[in-house]
Order: sequence, then C-alpha cells, then structure tokens
Amino acid sequence: MQQNANLTDRLSRRLSLFLFLFLITVLVQAQTITSPDKNLSMTFELAANGVPTYQLTYKKKPVIKQSKMGFEMKDVPSMMNDFTVAKTEQNSVNDTWEPVWGEQKTIRNNYNELLVTLNQKEHKDRHIRIRFRLFNDGLGFRYEFPQQPELKYFIIKEEHTEFNLTGDHKIFWIPGDYDTNEYAYTTSQISQIPGLMEKATIDVHAQHPIKTLAVQTPSMMKSSDGLYINIHEAALLNYPAMNLNVDPKTFKFSTHLTPDAVGNKGYMQTDTQTPWRTIVVSDKATDILASKLILNLNEPTAYEDVSWIKPVKYIGIWWEYFVAGKSTWAYGKETNVKLTDDYTKLTPSGRHGATTENAKKHIDFAAEHGFDAVLIEGWNIGWEDWFGNWKEEVFDFVTAYPDFDVKEVQKYAESKGVRVMMHHETSGAATNYERRLHEAFQFMQDHGYNSVKTGYVGKIIPRGEHHDGQWMVNHYNYVANTAAKYKIMINSHEAVRPTGLHRTFPNWLAQESARGTEFEAMGGLAPDHATILPFTRLMGGPMDYTPGIFQTDLSYYHGGEQRVNTTLVKQLAYYVTMYSPLQMAADIPDNYTRFPDAFQFIKDVALDWDDTWVLEAEPGDYVTIARKAKGKNEWYVGGITDENTRTANVRFDYLPKGKTYIATIYADAKDASWNKNPQKYTVRKVLVNSKSVLKQQLAPGGGVAVSVKEGSKQEQKGLKKL
Ligand code: NOJ
Ligand code: CA
Repeated sequence: MQQNANLTDRLSRRLSLFLFLFLITVLVQAQTITSPDKNLSMTFELAANGVPTYQLTYKKKPVIKQSKMGFEMKDVPSMMNDFTVAKTEQNSVNDTWEPVWGEQKTIRNNYNELLVTLNQKEHKDRHIRIRFRLFNDGLGFRYEFPQQPELKYFIIKEEHTEFNLTGDHKIFWIPGDYDTNEYAYTTSQISQIPGLMEKATIDVHAQHPIKTLAVQTPSMMKSSDGLYINIHEAALLNYPAMNLNVDPKTFKFSTHLTPDAVGNKGYMQTDTQTPWRTIVVSDKATDILASKLILNLNEPTAYEDVSWIKPVKYIGIWWEYFVAGKSTWAYGKETNVKLTDDYTKLTPSGRHGATTENAKKHIDFAAEHGFDAVLIEGWNIGWEDWFGNWKEEVFDFVTAYPDFDVKEVQKYAESKGVRVMMHHETSGAATNYERRLHEAFQFMQDHGYNSVKTGYVGKIIPRGEHHDGQWMVNHYNYVANTAAKYKIMINSHEAVRPTGLHRTFPNWLAQESARGTEFEAMGGLAPDHATILPFTRLMGGPMDYTPGIFQTDLSYYHGGEQRVNTTLVKQLAYYVTMYSPLQMAADIPDNYTRFPDAFQFIKDVALDWDDTWVLEAEPGDYVTIARKAKGKNEWYVGGITDENTRTANVRFDYLPKGKTYIATIYADAKDASWNKNPQKYTVRKVLVNSKSVLKQQLAPGGGVAVSVKEGSKQEQKGLKKL
C-alpha cells in the first residue's frame, strides 16, 4: 500500500511538473495583444504539432475562434506545421496622415502590433514572420518571408489561412469567381449558401465560378449577437486575389487564391510578403463604413508630385449605347475586321456614337454645367470585332474612326475648359495592351487627355490567366504606375476588386469591379444592391458606379418593361453614399435638361471631403451619410433605402455651433416609388443649425439628398426653420 501511495505521489508530482512545463510552453507560445481602446483582443498561439493559429475577440465576444495559418508549396515541404516560436516583438503606432483625396482630410493610424518569427527546425531553420496589427476597428495580418538560405524562390500551391467564425451568421455574398465581381448579392445565413449557390451564379460575362463552395471578399457578415464582421484584404501586390472557401456546417472560411494558367497560385522570391488579411469588426454597422483600416495597411504614395491628381466629375457618350438603341461603339456594318484594314472603306452603320459632332455636343453640355470631363467610348477602331473572339489585336488605342477627329475634338474641348476622358477597352488582351501601353499613353499626353477608363471585358490573354490572378494583379498595378509617369489618372473596369491601393497609387481614382449601373439596362439591380455595396465592394476603394440616371423607366426609349430600380432622388443620394473622387452623371444630357432643379444637386455635390459622418446604416436596408466638402463650408447628405419605405434620420450636429445654414432638401414625393412615379420629387429650402434633425420619408427604392450652404442674409431671409 505504502509503495503504491509513493508511486501515486511520484506520478502525480511528475504530472504536475509536466503540466507546469506544458503550461510554460503554451504561455510562451501564446501571445495576446489588445487594440488601443482595449475592445479587441487577439491571441497568437502555436497549436499541437507547431501549427500557427490566431483568434480574435471583440468586447469579450469571440469573433474568430482559433484559426490555423500556413502555406502549401510546390515541390518543397509545406509551411503549415512543425513551427517553433523563435521571436516575438511588439510595437505601437499612433499617428495621422493626409490622403491626396478621400473621405477625410486626416486619417488616424493607431494600432498595436505583434510580430512573430516562426522557425521550422526540421527544415534547416526555414522561417517566416507573421505581422499582426490590431486597430480599434479590426485586425490586419500578413505573412512575411525574409531572405534566407532555405527559402529563395517558391511557388504557392495554396494559402491556408482560416477564418473560423462563431456561428451561422447572416452574410451578404457573391459567388467565388476568378474573373468577375459583377454579380448580384445574395443575403442568407452561411448554412444556406450551398442551396442558393446555383441561383446566385447567374450569367455574367467572363465568369469563372469556383467549383468548390466559395464566396468573394469583401465578405460582410452579421452575427446573431449583433456583431458586424467584414473580411477582405489590403495591399494586393504581386499576389493573387483571395476568395473564401465556405464550410456551411462548421462556419469555417479559408483562403482560396486565384490560380494561374497552370494551376499555381503565387510565384514568390524572398524577401517578400502576402497582402494583409483584414477583419473589420464592430457592434455598430456605421463603424464598418467609417473604418480606415484597409487604407492604413497600404503604403503611402511614392509619387513625389501629386499636384496633377484631381477628382473628376464627368459625363459621357456611354449610356446611350445601353438604352437609347440609336447608337453603338462600332462605326462599320462589317463584323469580321482587322486593325490593319482600311476603315475608310467600311460601310458606316449610321449609328456610330463617337462622332466629332456628338463629342462637341457633349463638350458644350459639360462646359455649360461645370463638368470636368467627357468620356467618349467608341472613338477608336476595333469595335466591330471586339467581343468574344479571344484575339490579341483587338484595339491599337491610337487610331480614330474616320468620323472622329481627335485633334479637332481636343481643340474644341480645350477652348471650353473641358477634358476628354480616354477609353481603353482591352477586350481582355492584356498582352496587347502592355505592348502598346507607352504608345497609348504618349498619344494621350500629346493630345491633352489626363484620364483614362480602362476595361477588361472577356477572357484574358495570356490565355488561361484570370482577371484576379497574380499575373493580372501585376498588370493593373503596372498600368497604374506607368500612367503616373504620364500624369494620367485611371478608372479601371473589370479589374480585380480594390484593396486600398489608391493610397499608394492615388492616380488610380476608381474602379468598377462590381455590378454597377450598366446592369440597370441589363435586367436591373435589386433595390437593396446599393445598400450592400458600401459594406462590400466599397470597403476596398472607390467605385465608378456611374449614378445619375433620371430617366429610370427605360420603356421611354424602346417600350417594354425595363426600368432602373430606383427613384430619381435615390440616384442623387448615390453621389454621397457611394464615395468616389470620380463621379459620372451617367444619363443622356437631354434627361438632365428636363429636370434642372434635381440636376442642380449633381452639379453642386463635392468629390473630395474634409470629413465624413456615417449617420445610420444597416447592410441590405439603408445607408445615410453626411460629408463636408474639402476646404469649403458646404455639406452634402445622401440617404438611401432598399425596397421598403423608411424614415431617414438626418442629423446636422457636425455643423459649426451657433450658425444658421440653408439646407436644400431633395426628397421623393409622397406617392413616389422605384416602380411607380420614380420621377416625382420635391425640392425645398429650409434653415438648419447644428441642433436640427430632419426626419425624411424615403419612398420604396428611394432616397434623400441634401446640400447645406451658408448663403447670404438675403438668401436666408424668408426661409423657414426645419
Ligand atoms: C464594360 C464596362 O463596364 C462599360 O462601362 C463599358 O462601356 C463596356 N465594357 C465597353 O468597354
Ligand atoms: Ca463592367
């Protein structure tokens, strides 16, 4: 008995020692940091078998449960396990910076950082670093691969970063795809994604849906206990874009990188790093929209001179191609043409939109109403044969059609103080575009163009590459960087969705990379679409959404049933709710002439801001935002709703105290809605101060827009208080 007791004693002492040592190891291996306001807490820990993991909590509620991190490589052992912690370092930053343009004049960059160096002893001390930055609005982390004897060049087969969510959250999602983001959003629980995937994957051009269950980022979620969670990435450079694999039973998401033509994902050479993986989180939806985390994780611009980069308000020869049915991009009736053909010998269809005459008409309109630029699509040869043939030499970007005189148009535009916006549709032939890029930009510089809308409709060449793969990511970044050398601003369509790179390349004013207004002419956008976009696509950067459609009932042009699914006033509100330094008034000019009082808002609204206040928001339901124009005592408010009527609560507490201003309120009429009387609205002027609150009824599919200016005493006289 005594012997047994001794043995038990010895065993239990050993066990305690073992447990003690185990705990010490875990403690050493586990590192926790908190956000500056202490609301967020993030723990890095090496799990069994040396697997790196992280977890995240917000106000003590779990946001991301323990989640694995690592890489599977080609031809070399993986970087998934067998790690030991070699070193941990902590750092804190609290400073501010000023973007070239943006929603705020000054941005605070305040985070606590943890840098973990991980060793794989078994692989000759191969090591990586994981850098975590915890802000008040969320977490960013990236993998860094230092230069080392055992890791010089490597090919990534897959990144295995997990986002282990805590439950069956509500999610606003579009299907995973290597080539396009131009999907309608589906709102569901995570567990419902499999059943809804087929319906969600409707026909859009150049799509390449992922065979496994995946969604795209920015991915917006709401938990049943009221947390808003947004997963995306920042600073996508020399790396493929990430989709998220979905496990609808365990609610575990994991990275799914876009492959290249031979199925590899990333070609890396140390010293290098991945983009940041970002998790923005709050219990307030408005905080998600106010977050500057993604911008903060991007590098400051390296451009020395940014004085030539200016926000652009523009009109275009564009919407008429989609709705009016009277004009097209192409000049000739023939379809099978080559760049080397003599275009003067083609048979004019009589429907060519980009004629010198039409250009001048648009320039006149732009000059009269104070627009900066006119986009002219279809000015250059190649449109007869531009789509679906997967050929290299679609466009040359420098030769105009016989009925478009570049020099004359430019001379005319210059005399009116208006710029012409260049259009470079590549038709997916990125190779052709790269070969001709310098010539194309030189042509622009020689002829006075300072901005270009690029486009990548169709399948990519090099063949087998995807819009969102590493090759194309490098292409877009090269185009933006090269454009800067020519002092050219970029608006890219069909490019990979943005990740805040406009901080680094501020001449990259905006992108499409989502379902924009063009789809209103191709089946319509759901009335809640624009209440979701700020929480998803816009998290990465500004969108060329092309708002401003006044003639929403499209039967006006061609009979039938088609319509833009908003009221006219909601189109006005977009200029504030869809932040972009590049804003189009997309409708045909004649339609603005028919509604001059509403058009005044588009003419007035600013493009660059000193400050922004997200007044109220709920993804899928409503968004109300107020902004102060940069360097001016003018404020603009936009509020939108989904298919439901709603009361927008517009506060004015950001106005300087004790002063009275004139608010011009553009509102849906009482009997207006997106499908009945969409063009009925009221415009009224009232006096407001910092204590005023406007409770404005929004029509189903409607909105409200407000401009606030001081005005003269005379102008204020006789106006009623709100
Ligand atoms: C798709 C773009 O999104 C659209 O704006 C453009 O007009 C066409 N491509 C033609 O380039
Ligand atoms: Ca498009």
